Amino acid sequence: MPESFASSSEVDSSKRTWLIASSCAGAVGGLAAAVPFVSSFQPSERAKAAGAAVEADISALKPGEKMVVEWRGKPVWIVHRTPEMLATLPKINDQLVDPDSTRKPEEQAPAYARNPTRSIKPEYLVTIGICTHLGCSPNDKFAAGPQPSLPDDWPGGFFCPCHGSTFDLAGRVFKNKPAPDNLEVPPHMYLSDTKLLIGDDKKQA
Ligand code: FES
Repeated sequence: MPESFASSSEVDSSKRTWLIASSCAGAVGGLAAAVPFVSSFQPSERAKAAGAAVEADISALKPGEKMVVEWRGKPVWIVHRTPEMLATLPKINDQLVDPDSTRKPEEQAPAYARNPTRSIKPEYLVTIGICTHLGCSPNDKFAAGPQPSLPDDWPGGFFCPCHGSTFDLAGRVFKNKPAPDNLEVPPHMYLSDTKLLIGDDKKQA
C-alpha cells in the first residue's frame, strides 16, 4: 500500500506532516521540475504548524502555469487557467462524478467555489493537490489530447499516478476512477488582485 499525504486530521494534530509515497515521490518531483515554482510569502514554521493562513503572491503566475504553496502541511495548487482551459470545463460534465460540487459541499468546496469553475475568479483555480483516493499528489496533464495513460479525448487536467484517478482543470474527478471526490478547495480569499490568502476566508463574500 502506498504511503500517502497524511489525512487532514493527522496533519492538524501532528506538527507538520507531509508524507510522500515512494510511488508518488517521482510524480511530485516531476511536477516540480515541469512547473515553474513561484515563491510566496510564508509565515514561520511554528505558525504554519498551527495552521496559520499563508499569503501567495500570484503576480508572476502566467496563464497556463501553476504554483504551489504549503498550508497546514499540504500542497495548495494555484493554477492560472487560460481561456482555452476554461472552455473545456462545461463540455465534460457528463464524464464527471460531481460536476456541480454538490457532494460533501461543506468539506470539499466553500460556497464561493461551488460554481462551474470551482473558484472565486474563473481564471484562478485554488485547490489542495492531494488525491481523494489515498492521498498521492496528482501530476499536471494540462495538454489536451491523446497521451499515455489518458483517454484520446483528454481535455487537460491532472493524473494521479498511484491508481490512475483523473481530475479536470477544476479539480473535478472523472467517473469510474478510484478517487471518490473532487479535489478539495481550501478556504481562501483575495487580498488584492495579485495576493491570495490561503486558509482564511472571513472577508470573502
Ligand atoms: S491515490 Fe489512488 S488514485 Fe490517487
